[in-house]
Amino acid sequence: MELTKIAGIFEKGKGSFYTRGWVKRKRELKNKMFILLRDETDELQCVLDKDKADKKLVDVVEKATIESSIELKGSLRKDERAPNGFELDIEDLKIVGLADTFPIGRDLSEEFLLDVRHLWIRSSKISNALKVRATVFEAFREFMKENNFTETSGPMFVSGSVEGGSTLFKVPYFDKTVYLTQSSQFYLEVMMYSLGNCYTIAPSFRAEKSRTPRHLTEFWHAEAEMPWAGLEDIIDLEERMLKYMVEKVVTDREKELVRLGRDPKTLEPSINKKFHRMTYEEAVKEISKKFSYVKSGFDLGEKEEREFTKDLDRPIILTHYPTSLKPFYHRADPKDPMHVLCNDILAPEGYGEIIGSGERCWNTEELIERIKKDKLPLEPYQWYIDLRKYGSVPHAGFGMGLERFTSWLCKAQTIRDVVPIPRTITRTYP
Ligand code: 4AD
Repeated sequence: MELTKIAGIFEKGKGSFYTRGWVKRKRELKNKMFILLRDETDELQCVLDKDKADKKLVDVVEKATIESSIELKGSLRKDERAPNGFELDIEDLKIVGLADTFPIGRDLSEEFLLDVRHLWIRSSKISNALKVRATVFEAFREFMKENNFTETSGPMFVSGSVEGGSTLFKVPYFDKTVYLTQSSQFYLEVMMYSLGNCYTIAPSFRAEKSRTPRHLTEFWHAEAEMPWAGLEDIIDLEERMLKYMVEKVVTDREKELVRLGRDPKTLEPSINKKFHRMTYEEAVKEISKKFSYVKSGFDLGEKEEREFTKDLDRPIILTHYPTSLKPFYHRADPKDPMHVLCNDILAPEGYGEIIGSGERCWNTEELIERIKKDKLPLEPYQWYIDLRKYGSVPHAGFGMGLERFTSWLCKAQTIRDVVPIPRTITRTYP
């Protein structure tokens, strides 16, 4: 019978408890030996009185090194001083897998911790963030289901760029060169004609030479496409979705957020208040007060977005970016063709862009003209152009970097802390 969720404790017979896990910490105080046991649920303080215990048991407890996997039997006591109010008096301990000297201690560089990420992943910092990330995925799927979107998936090997050629990873593919996809958007636009509202959660790859706290070369992308919809429809969907997702994480992962140093109360404005909104041009005016080099047509980067959003208490929606800054698929505003009907959503507290979105160019001639203007070959996009020839409809969609979003919720110092095994420009190991 499972008695409590603390470190997977089970009651075995009257008053006798059984548990198992890994040795997180060990210390000795006078005649007492303490083991802090951890598993995926929690931590449990276990104690052995050396003077009273059997010599053989004392030897085994002494032998159990940090990160050894152990099985324990004992009696459970309430103890206010223990980390979660309980302590286990050890009656028996078996070492299942004796650990070598664990290479991770205090005050190590991020580079070293990334080298040993396969071991560092066991830390409470990473495991709490990964639990929040799992709830982020769950919340996205839940919201999409409730809003009648069907899940689907596109290919990862593709023949053309979505977000511009400079960030494509080339892959040898038999006698050809293909690329790893930067976004599944174009395939969602295909599937929309078959499924209607549709979405995917898939990896996207960017050969971006940016070593910032918010860039990965491989990230998980939640993308959706909606037929018969324009810019305002997609903005409305995104705002409702983000509110839903933040609320679910705050409700289901309060403990993890607190452990990560995020006060869940600080996320309430993102649930209860309408998001801020302004056009790109209005934002540029604001940002130029701090950075004089920022003028209309400037491609806002990590630094500018960080400064712009650092004091906000909830996300901000920026609309109508210059046509010159955005890829060809964005529909130009018929009233102002110098700007596109697009929006980005920036997270508060300096985290910056979490969503890229907008209305798609759905007219054949306009699309061909835009592809040519971007100096791209038409051939790889023939199928994409075809979609406009056979019953095209106005449509809109978005892409959200799930780690960017998780990073903000967890108040992470870097996006690398919220992905299990991060991939960056310098890292493909472990
Ligand atoms: O703004 P982006 O480039 O837009 C697209 O890819 C569209 N095709 C999406 C769509 O409309 N279906 O990327 C979308 C989001 C960004 O807002 C950001 O959250 C995330 O993807 N993202 C990254 N996350 C981590 N590391 C990177 N290098 C990222 N690049 C983009």
